[in-house]
Amino acid sequence: MPSLGDDLLRAMSPASLARAGAFAAFSALPSGSAREVESELRRRGVHVFSNAADHRTDRPPSLLIPEVNGAEFRPPRGGRAILLTNPNCTATGVTLGGRPVLDRLAPRAIHVTSYQSLSGAGFPGLSSLSTHGNIIPYIEAEEEKVSLEGSRLLGLSRGPSARSAPILAHCARVPVREGHLEAVTVEARRRPDLDALLEGWRRFDPLGTDGLPTAPRPPIELRAEPDRPQPLLDTWAGRPPRARGMAVSVGRVRWTPPFLRFTLLVHNAVRGGAGGSVLNAEFAVARAWVRDGA
Ligand SMILES: NC(=O)c1ccc[n+]([C@@H]2O[C@H](COP(=O)([O-])OP(=O)(O)OC[C@H]3O[C@@H](n4cnc5c(N)ncnc54)[C@H](OP(=O)(O)O)[C@@H]3O)[C@@H](O)[C@H]2O)c1
Repeated sequence: MPSLGDDLLRAMSPASLARAGAFAAFSALPSGSAREVESELRRRGVHVFSNAADHRTDRPPSLLIPEVNGAEFRPPRGGRAILLTNPNCTATGVTLGGRPVLDRLAPRAIHVTSYQSLSGAGFPGLSSLSTHGNIIPYIEAEEEKVSLEGSRLLGLSRGPSARSAPILAHCARVPVREGHLEAVTVEARRRPDLDALLEGWRRFDPLGTDGLPTAPRPPIELRAEPDRPQPLLDTWAGRPPRARGMAVSVGRVRWTPPFLRFTLLVHNAVRGGAGGSVLNAEFAVARAWVRDGA
């Protein structure tokens, strides 16, 4: 077996990547380290697609899920390269899972309780003694990210307006390997009937004609069984096979006016992480926001 010498493994820096003619960089750096490295890459003309939190609150916004805000999103300009971020994994679930029905409900408030898998904490994660047979009802900064990033993606204002709706989250770590389950309650101002809402989920396919390789068709898999979605069974939802893990599963839909309740499941590390960055890059190419050598 060859040893990993200088020819196979090299330290990288934004300068060395730009000198080597890199077109795009996919960043999965920890929050805190990402800001400077990603900004420097962009300054040097390398397009950046990031999973990290550091640039998610930039103005103009960098935060993108193509099916959620792709229609109105304009990439931030001001340099040769663009920098796009995908949101926090739990915010990804509630914004994508809720997108087909939220406008019809004109929400007054959105409540989310998440049951988040261990892989969401990165490697090596939490100790086995703290997680085995346990639930930890706190994940640092998670509830704030779900609220802030979710509101931005859905275009919900924070002040009094027809579009004002706080997103209120409880986030817990549970002993599951991958997949974040989220229980959502939407308090509605409008009262559509349940069939119209279910039809909204079934018909939702905003990237239908784009032909993006990583886009799942459909992006939401609506489950009728009373006990789905489940992490063990549904975390890898997504068709065709190359889009596995990219679809959000929605089930347990109940409408008790003025409350709509449903349960969703998102693969935190695929749709909620690296896969989200790849889809953003495909969307940027399809929209001609990036061109090789531009
Ligand atoms: N896990 C998820 O479900 C998820 C979902 C959405 C977004 N994210 C975000 O995605 C990013 C990565 O998450 P993760 O779960 O993969 O974390 P992770 O398991 O902790 O991996 C982080 C990686 O970054 C490397 N690294 C740290 N500092 C670096 C530096 N200065 N230069 C180059 N490499 C560096 C680490 O290398 P060493 O191991 O050698 O230190 C490690 O391989 C984070 O910003 C996280 O918030 C994660």
